[in-house]
Amino acid sequence: MFKNLSVNRRRFLYISLSGLAGATAIIVGKDKLIMSHSQAVDNRNRDFRVAGLAPLKKRAAAKGLIYGAASMQDFLLSDKNLETNFVRECGILVPENELKWDALRPSPDKFDFAKSDWLAQFAQRNGMLFRGHTLVWHQQLPQWFKEVVNPQNAEKFLVEHITTVTKRYAGQIRAWDVVNEAIEPNDELPGGWRRSPWLEHLGPNYIELAYQVAAGVDSKAMLVYNENDLEYDIPHQEAKRTLVLKLLERLKSKGTPIHALGIQSHLRGGETRFNANKFRKFLNDVASLGLKILVTELDVGDRNLPADLARRDRIVAACYEDYLSTVLDERAVIEVLTWGLTDKYTWYSQFLPRSDGKPVRPLLLDSNLKRKLAWNAIAKAFDRAPKR
Ligand code: G3I
Repeated sequence: MFKNLSVNRRRFLYISLSGLAGATAIIVGKDKLIMSHSQAVDNRNRDFRVAGLAPLKKRAAAKGLIYGAASMQDFLLSDKNLETNFVRECGILVPENELKWDALRPSPDKFDFAKSDWLAQFAQRNGMLFRGHTLVWHQQLPQWFKEVVNPQNAEKFLVEHITTVTKRYAGQIRAWDVVNEAIEPNDELPGGWRRSPWLEHLGPNYIELAYQVAAGVDSKAMLVYNENDLEYDIPHQEAKRTLVLKLLERLKSKGTPIHALGIQSHLRGGETRFNANKFRKFLNDVASLGLKILVTELDVGDRNLPADLARRDRIVAACYEDYLSTVLDERAVIEVLTWGLTDKYTWYSQFLPRSDGKPVRPLLLDSNLKRKLAWNAIAKAFDRAPKR
């Protein structure tokens, strides 16, 4: 492995037992390879070491950032090990599913807050912030929705839902993803809107209405527009960034009470088309509107990566660090949430499994809740981020 070490250059070999990551990384030489922004390159010598054992929430807070993750009541109730690690690492909790329509609305005239209340109390008793996802989305609408909601009553249902839910958590919730994923150029609708029952029944003004209602009930919550597929230098995502920016400019120009853009950040391990300069420009354009920016659902899909665990974990970790080092350069970015904490509970298992059937490894703790290189990568990105 060291046959090509040049003798005329000072090199030293040291072994960093990144035991926390459950891996031993051998780092050679002071002139570590400077990673290009390719996320597919697997650099065996990449240095993921971090100083100390401090949890991510502490490292984030040291820079004026908040780190946390999504989880579900089922997981936190049944898995003591998850609870322990979640409380240690996270400064904020977002319910993965319990604040969506299909979880809250068993019938047109009923709300069921049992699970979301439990999560709000879990956050509170563990000194965590709490964020809401999501008040208006085209997915996870309850079975009755299609039969009951129509152009005549859609506004009533939208206003009643947002009013009831935001009132219940006013004072407990830091932020709401008020509208989620409203833009989809591939749907080929004028304005690049995503096809959704809300757009169908109410037209694009459903978006502004949602923010006005939420702000009217909870004037303290940070109201967020949350979107996916904004990260890569590919035509579809470039188009989405342009359309999202236009939407945000329009909302701001009309005085709509919107405070932040949520960039979901479901990254693709092995995807090389990430242009840091272009993405920085987009972040800056959003910040110039006076908006904060949140990384709301960060994870790294590994379905297209090699089966070998060490290689897969290195590429996933590099993806986390490369992305976060770009994003955290923008001081308007104030929060980073991963969509889950451990490979044991990730949406990828159900929605984007690997073709070889091997368990997916998109997150920062493995399925035994041990820290992986991805944990090191996120810790390193926080440690190196500029202070807010
Ligand atoms: O709770 C029921 C359970 O009672 C039933 O037995 C089971 C049968 O499959 O389904 C369970 O509900 C599932 C729910 O997750 C809770 O596990 C739904 O079927 C399933 O569709 C739902 O998936 C969620 C998905 O959003 C829905 O679109 C994922 O967990 C969740 O991680 C994912 O999160 C989304 C964000 O909200 C928006 N951004 C993208 C992100 C990933 O898709």
